Amino acid sequence: MIHSRILGTGSYLPTRRVTNDELAQTVDTSDEWIYSRTGIKARHIAAAGEQSSDLAVQAARAALEAAHVAASEIDLIIVATATPDMTFPATACIVQNKLGITNQCAAFDVQAVCAGFMYALVTAHQYIQSGMATKALVIGAEVFSRLLDWNDRRTCVLFGDGAGAVVLGASDEPGLLQAKLRADGAFAHILNTPGKVACGAVDASPFLYMDGQAVFKFAVKALAEIGHEVMQLADITADDIDCVVPHQANRRIIDATAKHLGISPEKIIITVAEHGNTSAASIPLALDTGVRDGRIKRGDTLLLEGIGGGFAWGALLLRY
Ligand code: ACO
Repeated sequence: MIHSRILGTGSYLPTRRVTNDELAQTVDTSDEWIYSRTGIKARHIAAAGEQSSDLAVQAARAALEAAHVAASEIDLIIVATATPDMTFPATACIVQNKLGITNQCAAFDVQAVCAGFMYALVTAHQYIQSGMATKALVIGAEVFSRLLDWNDRRTCVLFGDGAGAVVLGASDEPGLLQAKLRADGAFAHILNTPGKVACGAVDASPFLYMDGQAVFKFAVKALAEIGHEVMQLADITADDIDCVVPHQANRRIIDATAKHLGISPEKIIITVAEHGNTSAASIPLALDTGVRDGRIKRGDTLLLEGIGGGFAWGALLLRY
């Protein structure tokens, strides 16, 4: 049986770091309000002209280097993004070209917003397990700052830009142990960006809309349930998990979910303070942070979990 394993991780944040205090100069908010409700202190914002593919390429290069894999060996590229460079082609095709990969490998985007990286990782795993690919680049990359109404204090303080990537390779040893992905389109109305390009114009609002309290309640319940489900499927308990790499939307969602799952706080990688919510990039950014600072070690059992617009959510158990 062919398994898949993470061979290397990488990430990239745009240079410009915007603190809560800086935001409070232009929006009616405060560091105290933002930090106490979300755990966010700062976020990174892409420069004008810097696209999701640019962030993705930087993260991918770091992951390739960590994995000791040449770009030319990659035979599948999946980019999870809700902020693609263009309506089409897929950002993954643009990334392929920018990385100088000329082997005509499959390249496509996955759109599951904040759950996108998990959907992409599971898809790459299936490609590898079926023998259709041997070394995949799986990337989450977002410029969410461009979906925000910077006059709307209820949303603009929450998000940031960035990218994270892994090289997933065929292996004799199991890497992805269990995965559960779910979606429920009946909840699209509580978190969305309705605008689309149509007939030469943007049709409907181009800005992110969120019912924060409804999202909070849904997220904690769904993540707790799916976390339990995936542990049951793998026949393990919270004690067997070495590290949790959650989607970084909000510190209070992360803490409440961990409490439901019986996971002790020191096992959780938290980057939301410095990154804000980077949507599909948040889990691979946090994963790379944990790997590079030594908290995540080879052989560790990891729980990845996240949720976002759709609603779409999931939980994955990995042996790193
Ligand atoms: N600064 C100051 N005041 C603010 C701000 C702000 N940035 N934003 C909202 N307020 C005000 C509101 O206007 C409101 O004032 P009012 O009573 O005078 O009308 C007051 O604060 C309370 O607003 P609520 O929306 O009720 O605030 P709440 O305590 O629910 O916190 C928050 C809002 C932080 C968004 C919370 O609902 C939450 O964490 N929700 C989860 C949302 C989330 O994490 N989304 C991420 C995207 S989805 C995902 O990735 C899972």
